[in-house]
Amino acid sequence: MIYEKIKSRRTIRKYVQKDVPKEMLLRCVDAARLSPSAANRQPLKYVVVNDEELLEKVFSTLSWAGYLPDHQPSEKEMPRAYIVILLDKNILQKPGHDAGIAAMSISMVAHDQGLGSCILGAVDRERLKKILNLPDSLDIILVVALGYPAENPVADKVRDLDTKYWLDENAVLHVPKRELEDIVKWNGYQKDHT
Ligand SMILES: Cc1cc2nc3c(=O)[nH]c(=O)nc-3n(C[C@H](O)[C@H](O)[C@H](O)COP(=O)(O)O)c2cc1C
Repeated sequence: MIYEKIKSRRTIRKYVQKDVPKEMLLRCVDAARLSPSAANRQPLKYVVVNDEELLEKVFSTLSWAGYLPDHQPSEKEMPRAYIVILLDKNILQKPGHDAGIAAMSISMVAHDQGLGSCILGAVDRERLKKILNLPDSLDIILVVALGYPAENPVADKVRDLDTKYWLDENAVLHVPKRELEDIVKWNGYQKDHT
């Protein structure tokens, strides 16, 4: 069930050093291709990276786990592929929401195929643009890192209103999620905004 898949997906930042088959990566892009798009303009383009030399160069433009400086992928845990989500400014000038939706489609189809993923917004876009030889008409919106998971993060409850993810004594990453009752109101808020 899709709900169970969404529940069991966690962001993966450490990867097994095993190649990801091209077909799996293309299936992820295909899911993005078929995703909702505002006014069906479909302004996104994609660069798939799996070349060994480029993998390292792309890695050097990314920032990982801002809350946990100790939870960075080491050289032996680097992603084995990237899908770079681009906005084609010849089609649309402002990014809107399409890229986020595409990133989620990529992450879910990756997860469904046994792959881990991390959506990254903390990207040195200027440098990555040069590394990938992108024309001026393409803007980098998000990068999705991919590979077979080498960690098993778990969803957790938010404690003391703190949503920062944290590592336990076994180096397992805990990702606090707000409770349903804390985020849902039926049919609006009360007049006093409670
Ligand atoms: C738009 C967006 C940008 C993100 N950027 C980064 C990033 O630059 N680096 C990183 O390590 N994680 C990044 N993440 C991953 C989030 O930290 C992660 O989704 C969050 O901690 C919740 O964990 P979960 O995905 O396992 O539920 C990003 C996620 C989203 C949706």
